[in-house]
Amino acid sequence: MCGIVGYVGAQPAAPILIDGLTRLEYRGYDSAGVAVVNGKGTTCVRTVGRVRELESALPKRLAGSLGIGHTRWATHGPAAERNAHPHRSEDGRIAVVHNGIIDNAGAIRAQLEKEGVEFSSDTDSEVVAHLIARSGADTLEGAVLEATDRIGGTYALAITDESRPDRIVVARNGSPVILGVGEGEMFVASDASALVRHTSSVVHLDDGELASVTTDGFRTFTKDGADTGRTPEDIGVDADDLDLGGHAHFMLKEIHEQPAAAAAVIAGRIDERFGTTRLGGLNLTPRELRAFKRVKILGCGSAYYVGQMGAQMIEDLARIPADAEAASEFRYRNPIIEADTLYIAVSQSGETADTAFAVQEVQRKGGYVLGVVNVVGSTIARAVDGGVYIHAGPEVAVASTKALTNMGIAFAMLAVQLGRVRDLSVADGKRILAGLQAIPGQIAQVLADAEPAKAIAAELIKGDSAFYIGRTRGYPVAREGAQKLKEISYIHAEAYQASELKHGPLALIDEQMPTVAIIPDDELADRNLAAGEQVLARKGPLVVIAHPGVDVSALKVPTIRVPKNEPELDPILLTIPTQVIAYYAALALGLDVDKPRNLAKSVTVE
Ligand code: F6R
Repeated sequence: MCGIVGYVGAQPAAPILIDGLTRLEYRGYDSAGVAVVNGKGTTCVRTVGRVRELESALPKRLAGSLGIGHTRWATHGPAAERNAHPHRSEDGRIAVVHNGIIDNAGAIRAQLEKEGVEFSSDTDSEVVAHLIARSGADTLEGAVLEATDRIGGTYALAITDESRPDRIVVARNGSPVILGVGEGEMFVASDASALVRHTSSVVHLDDGELASVTTDGFRTFTKDGADTGRTPEDIGVDADDLDLGGHAHFMLKEIHEQPAAAAAVIAGRIDERFGTTRLGGLNLTPRELRAFKRVKILGCGSAYYVGQMGAQMIEDLARIPADAEAASEFRYRNPIIEADTLYIAVSQSGETADTAFAVQEVQRKGGYVLGVVNVVGSTIARAVDGGVYIHAGPEVAVASTKALTNMGIAFAMLAVQLGRVRDLSVADGKRILAGLQAIPGQIAQVLADAEPAKAIAAELIKGDSAFYIGRTRGYPVAREGAQKLKEISYIHAEAYQASELKHGPLALIDEQMPTVAIIPDDELADRNLAAGEQVLARKGPLVVIAHPGVDVSALKVPTIRVPKNEPELDPILLTIPTQVIAYYAALALGLDVDKPRNLAKSVTVE
């Protein structure tokens, strides 16, 4: 959700900024801009559309080895050149890129306008440039400190001042920003993907922290100006993971990375002898784990749906009441936080603002929160009391795939560990461990057998709406399947419990309304088949995702088979074909699979 970059060093800044913005484009892509500073002043170029548009709009020779850049996901004001970042002071001296939302921008703007400042955009961000330009402080750092004292809300800021053309000042509060440390050069970025080709050494900032970067290095400090003395850490990301690697899209690449990613999240965490898992980062003793009476999982979007899968696994295996809730709602409803509830925040990016605020709400009220997170060192990973990294590797496509699969596996491992300090037997623990170890190979098999997904996608795109149905363990699969289809193909898709069809949605079934039925080989298979019959009886097109043991012959409809695992783990594998269907639907419609309209990979605003 908005990407920011910065560079100061000996090389021309513009190509480095453009490369960084291209890598960050998945965070937002409605407009982009750069400001490059040299001894003569600041050149600022902004365009509506993608980073490639910005690149072609840049002057051929753009001299300057210091600059900042931005790729935008609109919050205040439509996608227009005037609203693209960087924003500048009236004299053009100060340039600012911002990710986040400044809550009191309206009041500050009104005050500045009264003082005669002329604004040139509709954004909340522009106030920062004017506040800094009007500061009487002797240093850019001092002026930024003054400005950040005035603004409320969330921000990652990178700021240049052409009268101090040797530095970029950075500030963080609730929106991510990291520094990259090179030899005689420094980088600034929203996340590691923009830095990984330049350096493996990064500095994470905390909320309320600022930094000043020059060719000589960096200084980190608090709002009181006190040094925080941060030291660089290893970036933990492999540059090759961020290339397409011969695939047409990152989504397809990430779908096919799932066997390896699934193996990575399991590796080293299985304790065969005791039929349990070893999740070292929980920071909880067996006695503490045993003391929890309830589990509440918090996440947004697809992470919330996997949270629902996780809650069922925990109830099944650990017999602890568990549920999942959208973090975006939880944080606003003054939730009751219980000391004997284990809270779990689940997030690929670790930056989702709603989930991060839910974590704060739990912690403020004394609750214990674990993270199930992909991005190492991310905001949520750093805020939680313990957690499980899901080791999916970088996920670039906006539509999440391999991270969701690994979240499901992480929940299963957590459920086993919670279960084994309660009533889960060694035999049942070993049964689930064997199931987990089979998952990577079974995902590969699902992908190898996914050919019918293309024909199914071709059917789905004929209409403009679809149903996904499932029951109990199949229901979160249906929710995630519907989410994936609507996200990238823009086809309206709804998920229902198959049992609920007859209570209303069946009225919508006709020849134009296809249904995708998730039918695991379980005690409800007959009921699910009956729901399929009800759809067919109303002339609704039907497709089925089912285990080999489910006899679908009477339905005579296109079917994707998914290998059976242990029942508790089945949702993980049943989800895979829904990704492939969505991918081919978007592809057939000629849509931008990796960057669907109106969305961004990491939603760092509320
Ligand atoms: C769906 C999707 C979103 C995210 C959601 C949470 O494909 O990508 O629904 O799952 O925005 O993001 P994270 O997991 O980064 O917190």
